[in-house]
Amino acid sequence: MEVAIKWIMSEASEFKRGDFLKATIFGVCGLVTVGLGIPAIAYVISPTRQATQTEVWIRVGAVSKVEVGTPTLFKVKIQRTTGWIVNEEELSFYVLTENGRDYIVLSNICTHLGCRVRWIADQEQFFCPCHNGVFDKVGNVVSGPPPKPLNRFVVKIEDNELYILGS
Ligand code: FES
Repeated sequence: MEVAIKWIMSEASEFKRGDFLKATIFGVCGLVTVGLGIPAIAYVISPTRQATQTEVWIRVGAVSKVEVGTPTLFKVKIQRTTGWIVNEEELSFYVLTENGRDYIVLSNICTHLGCRVRWIADQEQFFCPCHNGVFDKVGNVVSGPPPKPLNRFVVKIEDNELYILGS
């Protein structure tokens, strides 16, 4: 009888030890999974969240470099991040001021099919060489196939530096 009771107690304690071991292993695995999984998910989705929340101001250059009354070409290198891909690209803008206080910034990309326009000083016009599109000094269409004016950017000036709102 005593032997039978010892055998039953031994079986019961082995059973509990086994359950405890399983529970401990599952618990540790669960903690590791949660501990690594949450930061990994946050790491993966964070670029897409940042892209939708961030307002990007692009520094164009010093306002002192803008010739009063003449569209002045500025070239800017920017890094564009799409998800995990980072590309560097060079953008060009024409900056115009008539009074040294108010500035407009125009894209140099033609609104017809995306060729680059250039300022022709003696004609006081922007000219697009691809299909002879012509724009006036502030970017309005004068002639040719372009369907709308040159794009304008929202501008701000801080510490005598010109910034445009990018996307
Ligand atoms: S792309 Fe400029 S006129 Fe066609």
